[in-house]
Amino acid sequence: MKNRLNNSLKTTEMRNALFCGDNLEIMREYIPTSSVDLVYIDPPFFSNRNYNVIWGDEAEIRSFKDIWSGGIDSYIAWLEPRFRELQRILKKNGSIYVHLDWHASHHVRVKLLDEIFGANNFQNEIIWWYRGGGVSKKRFGRRHDNILFYSNGAPNIFNIDDVRTAYSQESQERLKYKAQSFRGEKVYSNYEQHPMGKHPDDVWPLQPIMPSSKERYGYPTQKPERLLERIIKASSNRGDVIFDAFCGCGTTMAVANKLKRKWIGIDISFTAIELVKQRLNTLGAVDFPVIGMPTTVADAKKLEPFDFQNWIMRKIHGYPSRKKSGDLGIDGYTLLNQFPVQVKQQEKVGRPELDKFSSAVRRYGKTKGYLVAFSFTSGASAEAERLSREENINIELVSIKEILEGRSVL
Ligand SMILES: C[S@@+](CC[C@H](N)C(=O)[O-])C[C@H]1O[C@@H](n2cnc3c(N)ncnc32)[C@H](O)[C@@H]1O
Repeated sequence: MKNRLNNSLKTTEMRNALFCGDNLEIMREYIPTSSVDLVYIDPPFFSNRNYNVIWGDEAEIRSFKDIWSGGIDSYIAWLEPRFRELQRILKKNGSIYVHLDWHASHHVRVKLLDEIFGANNFQNEIIWWYRGGGVSKKRFGRRHDNILFYSNGAPNIFNIDDVRTAYSQESQERLKYKAQSFRGEKVYSNYEQHPMGKHPDDVWPLQPIMPSSKERYGYPTQKPERLLERIIKASSNRGDVIFDAFCGCGTTMAVANKLKRKWIGIDISFTAIELVKQRLNTLGAVDFPVIGMPTTVADAKKLEPFDFQNWIMRKIHGYPSRKKSGDLGIDGYTLLNQFPVQVKQQEKVGRPELDKFSSAVRRYGKTKGYLVAFSFTSGASAEAERLSREENINIELVSIKEILEGRSVL
């Protein structure tokens, strides 16, 4: 990674940037001490789920793991060095918002945030209350996330006037009168409503991303822009640097950009960073480095399987199959001719894989397909030649190295 990264962020002038890679490694190597004004993070929630979603015109598989086989202790141990880094890079009057839910927010608050940022610097536990379908018959509906807000020492920036909300009808009525006299008539209050609106409290009823929502990117656990808007407006000023070490599809970056803040985002997933790049481009942000994207065979070997598949499809300008299963093992198609493509994150792909793929290509009604892998056995190459010669079915064996060298797959 080190060779691939330019060290532009080591300068004192922070600039917009995206990083693909493990946030611990990136923060340690590239983000200077006391350099960011506001951190928002939305780490995997310790929910023991493996998110895997296929969505959108490009039908990419967008997925990430949220599985902690070692239980809560291993989750906390995994987060701890990351929180220490976040504390190091945050300016002394900066703020951090940590987005969690009922699975682990209590552990993270007591075991990590109180320890690292100091219990005295706890500011709020914000409850993001949302609507949604599906409740267990055994308990009340679980309908909120917890956002733990700490400052990195006092004083922290808090722009209350930028986040005031409208008074409700009920509170307007209530504030007009102090009480009722014993004769029953209302006694006027001298309490003045603030002309710019109500000081919001720590329960935020905000709509989640709905299936029909315009801002929906289909990324699992995508957060609504309005949530980030309130956080960024309250705890930063124009030109400040906003940092998200688990940026997913880039909600923090998009909102920071709209609000004229600078931003730095990190995600371990190639698919996520590719999506954030596009999202920011559509907002007119084009001139920023994207650091750490996979460029070598060694990088490709480290990718998660879904990321690997998306990466290859993008490299060959193909599109992934929309189906997660039942598509005859075909992973995607070439853009021009819709020839089937199968992608194997393996060395020495042999006859059995070739046989399965060639029958899938036939069943799909095509006479040509591409099998992509790191390398192939001689048996697979001989069989591919025979198929082409004797059965008029052309299975091209394409190595990742050839793709990186620019081989076209049409
Ligand atoms: C809950 S999602 C964030 C969603 C985001 N707030 C949004 O609105 O799209 C968590 C993200 O953390 C990323 N992630 C997990 N482990 C990581 C690591 N070690 N370094 C960087 N990113 C990581 C995942 O790829 C995933 O995109």
